[in-house]
Amino acid sequence: MADKKFELTEVSSGKKAVLPFRSGTLGPDVIDVASLPKEFDAFTIDPGFGVTAACDSKITYIDGDAGVLMHRGYPIEQLAEKSSYMEVCYLLLNGELPGAGQLDKFTNDIRHHTMINESLLRFYNGFHHNAHPMAMVSAVVASMSAFYHDTMDIHNPRHREIFAHRVIAKLPTIAAAAHKHSLGQPFVYPRNDLSYCENLLHMFFAVPCAPYIVNPVAAEALDLLFILHADHEQNASTSTVRLAGSTGTNPYAAISAGVAALWGPAHGGANEAVLAMLEQIGTVDNIPKYLAMAKDKSSHFRLMGFGHRVYKNFDPRAKIIRAACHKVLKSLGQTNNPLFELALKLEEIALKDDYFVERKLYPNVDFYSGVIYSALNIPRAMFTVMFAVARAVGWVAHWQEMIADPAMRIGRPRQLYTGPGKRDYVEIGKR
Ligand code: CMC
Repeated sequence: MADKKFELTEVSSGKKAVLPFRSGTLGPDVIDVASLPKEFDAFTIDPGFGVTAACDSKITYIDGDAGVLMHRGYPIEQLAEKSSYMEVCYLLLNGELPGAGQLDKFTNDIRHHTMINESLLRFYNGFHHNAHPMAMVSAVVASMSAFYHDTMDIHNPRHREIFAHRVIAKLPTIAAAAHKHSLGQPFVYPRNDLSYCENLLHMFFAVPCAPYIVNPVAAEALDLLFILHADHEQNASTSTVRLAGSTGTNPYAAISAGVAALWGPAHGGANEAVLAMLEQIGTVDNIPKYLAMAKDKSSHFRLMGFGHRVYKNFDPRAKIIRAACHKVLKSLGQTNNPLFELALKLEEIALKDDYFVERKLYPNVDFYSGVIYSALNIPRAMFTVMFAVARAVGWVAHWQEMIADPAMRIGRPRQLYTGPGKRDYVEIGKR
């Protein structure tokens, strides 16, 4: 709606300014405040970016009140049921679902890049055996920028494409190397005859002294989790990648910044924290005690895996994962999984509690994902790494979209200064 406008009045002076609205394909309009400094000598302030759109994007749409998530217009439920992670990667990067030949070519392009440079592999030896894998992964991803000088011109579309393929292809290898380093086991090289998730599981669990056959149930479950984690519009880590990338820094450094942002427990680190919390709660009898702690404002304890900045309804990804838990645990012969039983009971009790109802706090994507990861024998410290592997494509897609936009500018927020006014320097002996 081009002629929809918003009038802002500075009450004391009566000065008025007309601010344009902009409409997207779906979702609320935005008010374009770019003229505010000129009109009123004022900025907007929005700590936590609760009501600020940072960019235009064609990739992912969320309606938080309705619990809707779509990638390039396709509902997440349909992608989860019918698609594959490789196909979703192609969709996020290219805007359309691939034809059979295009998917084949894309999958082969990714396969072509699964190995990491042997020098990069030696970086792991510098880490203590109990280093958190996210520390290793963020460092190794940042170090990739030291290896690919030949294809790092961010203004060259072919270079950007090779970068995208490298990140998606090498993240499982980087993650598996971190896992093997933690265990003190030899690194297992990628196998390009396997699918993306089969290869990841093989690199994680195979050892040189025995054959290892990947369980197809495990590979399928991982593929589903990866689809559900692939992108989530302007979340904290994606916004970090965009902000870092907007300076023109090399793209591997921008992705590494995203890995670092994802690590926090308010974001991707929540999946690890959920499992720690469930183990701490231990039994159903303890649930009321922990719910009371989560509601107590003097305690830092929060119900991990609950609440979301955008979803004020069920996170659609949590619904899909909860249903998948039943199926995966049954297929793996783990029908009486105590962690899953406890999580279900915790959800049931919390969703009847006024505190959670009034604040619209529902389980998010991280609440149930750890149940599946642990059923697949992936250790708790690796959960956020799994999230990073899956989210890499989202980060890359957003970075690509930003760099290809001729209107791209450096991301540079302003502030409300609340420090001291001007004062004169005092010599040290006189202070
Ligand atoms: N447990 C207890 N209280 C909560 C929780 C929770 N998990 N989440 C929000 N609240 C309360 C919060 O204390 C506040 O209460 P009041 O209005 O009385 O001050 C109210 O609900 C609104 O919360 P907020 O902190 O203003 O919400 P936010 O949008 O800034 O934070 C969040 C969103 C996801 C960081 C937060 O809900 C949270 O910390 N959840 C637990 C961590 C988690 O599961 N994170 C994963 C997010 S989804 C996946 C991802 O991003 O990677």
